[in-house]
Parts: sequence; C-alpha cells; structure tokens
Amino acid sequence: MHIHDSLQHSETDPRLSELTLLYQFSNTMLSTIRLNKLMHLILTAITTPSSNLFERAILFLRNEKSNVLQGMLAVTRQLSEGLQIVGGHDALGSRWEISDEVISRQRSAEFCLQVRLTRIEIDTDTDCPLIHHIISERSLYHYDDNVCHKCPTCHFIRPLCGGSFAAAPLVARETTIGMIVVDNPDSARDISSDNLHFLQLFANQAGMAIENSMLYNRIEDAHLNLKDARERLLHGERLAAIGEMAANLAHELKNPLITIGGFAGRLLKALPVETREYRYADTIVSEVSRLEKMLAEILAFSRKPTICFHRCNLEEIVQDCLANNAAIFEDHNIRVSFSSDAGPLAVFGDAHQLKQVFLNLILNACDAMPEGGDLSLTLQKASLDKKTVIATVEDTGGGIPQDMLPQIFNPFFTTKHHGTGLGLAIVNRIILNHFGLIEADNTGQGAVFTITLPLAQ
Ligand SMILES: Nc1ncnc2c1ncn2[C@@H]1O[C@H](COP(=O)(O)OP(=O)(O)OP(=O)(O)O)[C@@H](O)[C@H]1O
Ligand SMILES: [Mg+2]
Repeated sequence: MHIHDSLQHSETDPRLSELTLLYQFSNTMLSTIRLNKLMHLILTAITTPSSNLFERAILFLRNEKSNVLQGMLAVTRQLSEGLQIVGGHDALGSRWEISDEVISRQRSAEFCLQVRLTRIEIDTDTDCPLIHHIISERSLYHYDDNVCHKCPTCHFIRPLCGGSFAAAPLVARETTIGMIVVDNPDSARDISSDNLHFLQLFANQAGMAIENSMLYNRIEDAHLNLKDARERLLHGERLAAIGEMAANLAHELKNPLITIGGFAGRLLKALPVETREYRYADTIVSEVSRLEKMLAEILAFSRKPTICFHRCNLEEIVQDCLANNAAIFEDHNIRVSFSSDAGPLAVFGDAHQLKQVFLNLILNACDAMPEGGDLSLTLQKASLDKKTVIATVEDTGGGIPQDMLPQIFNPFFTTKHHGTGLGLAIVNRIILNHFGLIEADNTGQGAVFTITLPLAQ
C-alpha cells in the first residue's frame, strides 16, 4: 500500500490526516531503532508529495563535544517518493518503511552532500534568533526576513534555504539534540500556521525517537566492548593457567635432566669415538642440552620480568644483533639490509631484553628462509607525532598463513619441529613492558613484524 491510499481523507479532513501521520510515525518509531533509517523516514514523511506539508527538509544533530549543529541529511520532494506503509491496512496499526535503494538515492543527492558539509557553531551569546529559539528556548522558529537578513550566524542557512524557512528543535530530556529545517523552494509559498503546528508535534516525537536510537547504539557499543573485554580476560586466564602448569613442569624436569646430561657426558668421554655407543651418547647429550635450553626459556617466561630501564640507542642494539648473527646469514645465503632514520633513536628500556626481541625476530626470519632470501630491518620516527619509533623486520620467507596470524604471539604456538613457540610470546611481553606494540602481517613475499616504541624524551 502506498502512503497516498491512507491519506485520501486528507482533502476532507486535514486534522485527521495529521493525526494519522503522527500515529503512523509513532508506530514507525517503535519499530525502527537504526538511526540512519530513522532519519530518512522522518524527513521523507514530511516531504512526501501525498502528505503535502513541505517541499524540503534538513536534519541537523547536535555534537555535544564540539558544540555544533552538524548537517546530517536532507530530503527534497523529488526524492521523497517511495515511502511504503506496512503492517496493516488501517492507519492505526501500520507503519512506514523505506527501501535501501531510496535511502542511498537520497543520501547521494547533491543537496544532501552540501548539507552534510554544513556545521553551525552554537554560540548562545549571539543575537541570532535561530540559535536563541532552537537552543535556548527549545521552541519553533519561523524565518523573519527583517531580523534574519542582518544576522551573521544565519549565513549557513541562507545558502541552503534561500527564502522563507522554519526550524523546529529536536528535544530529548530537556535539551536540544538537533533540529529539523523545512522550506518550500519550488513553489516559494510561505509555511502555513497549520503546517508549523504539525512540524512542532512531529519534531517532538522525532526528538525522542532519535534519542532512543542513539541510546540504543550506545548500549550496543558498550555491550560489544564488554564482550571483547570478557574474551580477553578469559584468554588471559587460560594463558596464565597454562603458564603456571608449564613452569611447575619445567621445574620438576630440570633436576633429572641435569643428572641425565651429566651421566651422558661422562659416558661420551669414556667411550671410544666412532663407535655406535659414542653416537648414541652424543645424541643424548645434544638433545638434553636442547631440552635444558627449552626449560630455561619456559622458566624465564613464567618468572615475573625485571626490567632495568636505561636510555639506550636502538640503532646500536639492532646493529649488534646483525653483527652477532653474520655467520648464520652467510651460511643460509641471506642478504641483509638495514636502514635507520637520521638522528638519535634513544628509547628508555632494557638493552638486553630489546636485543632479545630483535634476535628472536631475526632467527624466525632465518628459519622461514632455509633456502636463503632477503632480510630487511628499518628504524624510523613516526611521521605524525615524532615521539615514537617504528621498527620493522621483514623477510621473503613466504609469510605466515592468515589463519595463524592471531595465534603466533601465544605461548607454545609453533609450527616447527624443534620450536618451543615461546620466541614471539617473549618478544610480545618485552615490547608490552616497554609500553610498545608489536604487529605481524604478510607482504606477499614474506612476513613483516612492526614494532612501535616510545622514544625517550
Ligand atoms: N618470519 C616468519 N615467517 C613465517 N612464519 C613465522 C615467522 N615468525 C614466526 N612465524 C610463525 O610463528 C610461529 C611462532 O613463532 P615463535 O618464535 O613464537 O616460536 P618458534 O620460532 O616456533 O619457536 P621458538 O622461537 O620458541 O624456538 C612459528 O612457529 C612460525 O610458524
Ligand atoms: Mg622463534
């Protein structure tokens, strides 16, 4: 059913038609919670040809923080066809609907785009009658040519409206949360007092509906944030439990392992080289030393870290790491490049731990490029604030499968035969303890790790 059908009695009884519109609007309000759609429905309802109220309508919403009225949406009569009535044949049970196609046509109209760029400063000390009515008095304002053509504040409305216009405040909880401006630019006819009265009634309801919708959005946002926080908390708890278990286990295993290693070492010395038994003992010794290293890492990870904060030069730290691993690069056919921003890159932190960060990232990159490749490291100041340094470690080892990316910083996540999966977990913890952030991504050719750290002031 089209809106026109329900308004056929409008010619005989305009009051009844007003009431019908208001009733349908209140039904619509109860079933439309999305702010965007609500705004389109409001403006379309008062400009639609069959309601014959206004030829154009503009909606402003107040931004509390910047204290401006921000243009949100405009609908002209040419674009206000398409309001549908659904949910029942009698006016009392029905409500309006609008299609996504009409919404997007209205939104992309030139006049609407112009309105969306309009911001009206709210200065309650001005003599502007519009601001006075809408913000201070919270009452309807009908353009008064004698006063308004002199008013400096109205320069934003005049190019939009040209001639005569009326504005109604959108009020909720006794404050103005926005306004609706209407005019008749096509026929240039003045706004009748009946229509002004209707606008007032309509704006009262619209104000409440918009406030409800904004509150609903805020609740939804808060709900999402809570859900997110809960998930992070659960994840943290799970990791803490795993960490504690691993630390206990590592502690229990350490002593027998030392004994096994010690005896295997003695056997090795006693056995003649080149025998089968010597090879067995040698394997035991090297595997035990690998396990010892792993246990030491686990214990280090589960211990509360102590950081000795000093002013240290990040460039030096990276260069040290590269120098220490030169032999590995050569053996693995890895070309290394390093570039650093001019100027000192001093960070306040623990040089030993920061070295461990780059060492772990470099070793991972080498593991990813067993056949050789390119490893590049960069250091640069953040272009915006100049207060942070951004370090990147990039390789050409094929990258990290997309579904693994969220897990690589978890303790014990590894895809390697001999890996503990603690490397990146340690890296992440060190960076967080230095008030920084680390992220991993793929470049197409390989992986790139980006670290952001605050520069020492
Ligand atoms: N540069 C990289 N390219 C491809 N995959 C990577 C890279 N860095 C890390 N990964 C992936 O992330 C996983 C976790 O890395 P992490 O350093 O935490 O543990 P690990 O290297 O497996 O073991 P560990 O460092 O404890 O010896 C790796 O097993 C690997 O799958
Ligand atoms: Mg590693």
